[in-house]
Amino acid sequence: MKIAPSVLTADFTILEKEIKSINEADYIHIDIMDGNFVPNISFGPAITKQIAALTRVNLDVHLMVQNPSEWIEKFSLESVEFITVHYEANDFVKAIKLIREKGKKIGLSINPKTSIESIKPYLEDVDLVLVMSVEPGFGGQKFMTSSLDKVEHLNSLRKLNNYRYVIEIDGGMNNETLVMAKNAGVDVAVVGSFLFNQKDRNEFMRKSR
Ligand code: DX5
Ligand code: ZN
Repeated sequence: MKIAPSVLTADFTILEKEIKSINEADYIHIDIMDGNFVPNISFGPAITKQIAALTRVNLDVHLMVQNPSEWIEKFSLESVEFITVHYEANDFVKAIKLIREKGKKIGLSINPKTSIESIKPYLEDVDLVLVMSVEPGFGGQKFMTSSLDKVEHLNSLRKLNNYRYVIEIDGGMNNETLVMAKNAGVDVAVVGSFLFNQKDRNEFMRKSR
């Protein structure tokens, strides 16, 4: 299982040090919030660019914004590998098309209340499915175990149809929930506050994989 630290809970006054402390990450997860799709605001393209300049690790951009198609261009930086948009957002189909045109990998995310059934028509077109295991908007929330059923469902659909997507989980990951996620078949786990509370973050990622 790959580990993608979410920098949402990093200390932004010492950004360079924080980014260096996770230089063994598989991806760096970038949480973009617009204060509209979710009741919180994080940061935007300028800070994302600064983070990209501080690391060789590829970025995994998670857009928690109401109108994702308006932001694809600005987040299509060279080291951005995935751009993920929400099924619950306004124009996600248009956004998916734009992500493809930019040559980036397409991610589609679902909130805890959204079923796998609703994203079935899009599964053949995406490179990543992000299952939210908390309500999006804040770090440090409690993991919802219902997300594990979704991961298993996505795994069986992938096998059955030969789909290419990787399965990512986001929210409330810690030592215990990481094991649960791995057993359910998660490919990439996003870890925020729990990872940034570790003294040696690279060592934690090595062990967690
Ligand atoms: C939540 C974000 C997550 C969050 C994870 O809206 O998408 O990436 O930062 O943080 P933890 O691991 O603390 O739940
Ligand atoms: Zn996220």
